[in-house]
Amino acid sequence: MSEEQSTLRPCALVILAAGQGSRMNSDLPKVLHPIGGAPLVAHAMRAGAALEPARIIVVTGHGAEQVEAAVAAHQDAAICVRQTEQLGTGHAVLQAKAALEGFEGDVIVLYGDTPFISEGTLASMQAARAHYDVIVLGFEAADPGRYGRLLMQGDALERIIEAKDASPEQLAITLCNSGLLVADATTLFSLLDEVGNDNAAGEYYLTDVPELARKRGLSASAVRCPEAETLGINTRAELAAAEQLFQSSKRAEVFENGVTLIAPETVYFAYDTYIGRDTVIEPFVVFGPEATVESNATIRAYSHIEGAHMSSGAVIGPYARLRPGAELDNDVRIGNFVEIKAAHLGEGAKVNHLSYIGDAEIGAGANIGAGTITCNYDGVMKHKTTIGKGAFIGSNTMLVAPVNVGADALTGSGSVITQDVPAEAMAIARSKQVNKPGLAAKLRAHLLALKTKKKGS
Ligand code: UD1
Ligand code: CA
Repeated sequence: MSEEQSTLRPCALVILAAGQGSRMNSDLPKVLHPIGGAPLVAHAMRAGAALEPARIIVVTGHGAEQVEAAVAAHQDAAICVRQTEQLGTGHAVLQAKAALEGFEGDVIVLYGDTPFISEGTLASMQAARAHYDVIVLGFEAADPGRYGRLLMQGDALERIIEAKDASPEQLAITLCNSGLLVADATTLFSLLDEVGNDNAAGEYYLTDVPELARKRGLSASAVRCPEAETLGINTRAELAAAEQLFQSSKRAEVFENGVTLIAPETVYFAYDTYIGRDTVIEPFVVFGPEATVESNATIRAYSHIEGAHMSSGAVIGPYARLRPGAELDNDVRIGNFVEIKAAHLGEGAKVNHLSYIGDAEIGAGANIGAGTITCNYDGVMKHKTTIGKGAFIGSNTMLVAPVNVGADALTGSGSVITQDVPAEAMAIARSKQVNKPGLAAKLRAHLLALKTKKKGS
């Protein structure tokens, strides 16, 4: 065990997410705007989760109810506390004090609108705590603008000065404050009790903590990370830029996993998309949340996949849609304009053209003909369709659920199947065909005569 590992202390996350984000010009609280299909605040929680925190506290304020629901959906262990008035970042962290009662260890402060902090950076901050009482995450800013500046004295962090309060000399400093900070919980809250609001913004600044610590004879220092990690989202343009960054890092990740993307910039992933080795993805494919694809699968152009799982060798598209609960076993074939929802397709089953399969269990090797629909919804409830292995469903069959078609059974094209079909039986449920000799010619002559008469009148 290295020295760093042996001195790592238990940690708790405090994620600040109470701000309004007025520059988003949105009814949605800023931290709920999504990147890769997950709200910003979920990205912050995910980065921090790598540290296996003992507690996760999210400070909410603007749109608190909505934010709290999203937090619970992504991390049910997280505790939300409310900051009813946004009096500053220091005041925000103080709201977590009661929720951290009895916790002994380090508090890591994160921002809910800063989604790209890496696990490695958080781990470096945690490790640096072995040598300093307070650790702040800094970065060299290309354009320091409104960021707080880190005033260093060698390795020691003397203080953080907010841009609003800085002198021209201080504004020339390019080492900036990301906002992330680590300190022992008891120490941090006792320092925060001392923070006042006598500054240009009239706010209680978290950034006063290093200087207050130093005045007590405690030490403070900074860990540096690339600026890209500290990217915060304040506007729609920044949200779009962040989405692009997220997508390029996700594409790099899938390449790393041995996946082929023919036109990478046209494929969009969700935060949790997993694609296995030797899978090939054609252009213009979109993944929503909770999609997993095993090895050697093929996703042809213009397909949309969300909440679905594809096993090895499965092929979908072009123009296929897998919705939540779609579960494709090995070598399943899903063709163009086919929608699959909450349905399990056994090995080698085929649905090649223009079909809707919802709430269904399809046996291995079954062949579902063009235009087949599982009529799963009666306007009030959803019902299940079961098709046995090796069954052959004729084109344009309507399967009115609940209904079962047995193994190796067959349905005639155009059938409306309302009753169960036994295994190996053939079901035909359509009106009988009647041929009337010569009637087509007679009818045509009659219609032509009508047309001539109309023109003449
Ligand atoms: C803050 C830092 C600044 C740093 C910058 C990095 C302070 C005083 N300043 O400035 O040094 O360079 O972040 O982006 O900390 N929040 C609350 N409650 C509040 C105020 C803020 O929850 O009362 C949350 C916001 O929702 C946001 C985060 O804290 O997630 C940062 O607040 P923001 O107002 O954006 O701080 P900056 O002025 O950008
Ligand atoms: Ca900010």
